[in-house]
Amino acid sequence: MGKHQKELAKAQSAINEVKQTVSQDDWRLCYHVTPEANWMNDPNGFCMWNGEYHLFYQHHPYTPEWGPMHWAHVKSKDLVHWERMPIALAPSEWYDKDGCFSGSAIEKDEKLYLFYTGNQWTGPNQDTDLKQVQCIAISEDGIHFEKIKENPVILEVPEGDIHPFHFRDPKVWKKGDVYYCVLGSQTKNRIGQALLYRSSDLFDWEFVNVLAKGQGNQGYMWECPDLFQLDDKALLVMSPQGVHPEGDNYHNLHQSVAVIGHLNEESGKFTSEQWQTLDHGFDYYAPQTLIDDQGRRIVIAWMAMWESEMPEQKREWAGAMTIPRILSMEKEKLKIEPIPELASLRYDPIMYQEITVDQDRQLDGINGDCLEMKVTIAAKEANKFGLNLRMNESGTEYTTLAYDVAEEKILLDRSHSGKGPGGIRKAPLALQNGQLQLHLFIDRSSVEIFMQNGEMVMSARIYPGQGSTGIEFFSDTAIEIVQLEKWSLK
Ligand code: FRU
Repeated sequence: MGKHQKELAKAQSAINEVKQTVSQDDWRLCYHVTPEANWMNDPNGFCMWNGEYHLFYQHHPYTPEWGPMHWAHVKSKDLVHWERMPIALAPSEWYDKDGCFSGSAIEKDEKLYLFYTGNQWTGPNQDTDLKQVQCIAISEDGIHFEKIKENPVILEVPEGDIHPFHFRDPKVWKKGDVYYCVLGSQTKNRIGQALLYRSSDLFDWEFVNVLAKGQGNQGYMWECPDLFQLDDKALLVMSPQGVHPEGDNYHNLHQSVAVIGHLNEESGKFTSEQWQTLDHGFDYYAPQTLIDDQGRRIVIAWMAMWESEMPEQKREWAGAMTIPRILSMEKEKLKIEPIPELASLRYDPIMYQEITVDQDRQLDGINGDCLEMKVTIAAKEANKFGLNLRMNESGTEYTTLAYDVAEEKILLDRSHSGKGPGGIRKAPLALQNGQLQLHLFIDRSSVEIFMQNGEMVMSARIYPGQGSTGIEFFSDTAIEIVQLEKWSLK
């Protein structure tokens, strides 16, 4: 057995030892990708290969904390039901001895190529004592991945105003006969930027240009960049670290944004027209996209945040993916919607129409900890209205989604959600014809709330007690639930 195989076998047996205990936990999510046990962060290598969706993720198989990174692997035919595959990558060579960091996947000659960052610590300070190089592992069967002997394929950062250490997260795609790769970077005095490379064969890479660079409050490091075309716009999706709060914006430690603009492939320059926050909740980082065989641009992200309290760590696991979401452009704005395939999980539908709510009100059958709900609310004369989710019987535990008509803002409050970090997030949102349209996905320890038909999303991990399954509507004066549909999810 080679060195890499030995490391993979060791990692797999570490997981096998605890996964049974972890599976009993009542915070385990029902329809989200989670690690079987121990630590998860970024989605990696999200792609379609041989008619199936493949998703890898940053994984530390030995403890529920971040550590030497492996790539775990799941696959799916429908983006809903996921099959566990053996761990795909483990640190084993001089160039990735301290971690196989984030990256992407692409098909070439029927083989599946993984691009990842080999991380090496060169001293005790993880911010300054590191070397990052770009590497490839190839699979013929979609199960076993071999690191190529030519690794690393990119050994040094290019010349120019480019920091020599923080150089990671390759996302590779093909246009015509040319392969492109975008990489996360920072300048020497620490301004976030992204770098563009090109290649004719995936092995030999030529640096094209600094694709884009932060201006003002746009962060000191751009992690996990992704670049693609959506209609007539180019989108640079990435995760800037260190953007400071501005009003209601940017209250998470790090952000994930879509920069909408235009790309000149020849010069390797991206012109930015606008920044859009991808998720206005608490837990959303390192999104990665694929384009599938239906031509849909689908994004998935780590539903967590660096340095945020993760109560499930005490139960020997940490982290989850969001549900997959479809990105599209509508009137120059990015629209984000859940994939329709999730409907295959629905059972026990319940519907209500034209219900007046003028005090706190629960509706028969509208409760649960694993459900989907679509609801349209007419604000009428109300100034404040909303829902309490995952509420316990005594009304002491709940997660609040509230709309403020005068301020034209939506607010998500998890201060009373149970265990966990708490906090409030607010974002500007207009009513449409006096109505608020919500599409909620609730799982055992998460909420994802899509608003106004894809205009905005808020995601949060929450850690309620098992009995907290109530949903209560509230309002300061009468509102109308115009239409409500709710399904339990398997
Ligand atoms: C983003 C990130 C990446 C890095 C990986 C390490 O969350 O910091 O930049 O490759 O996580 O796990």
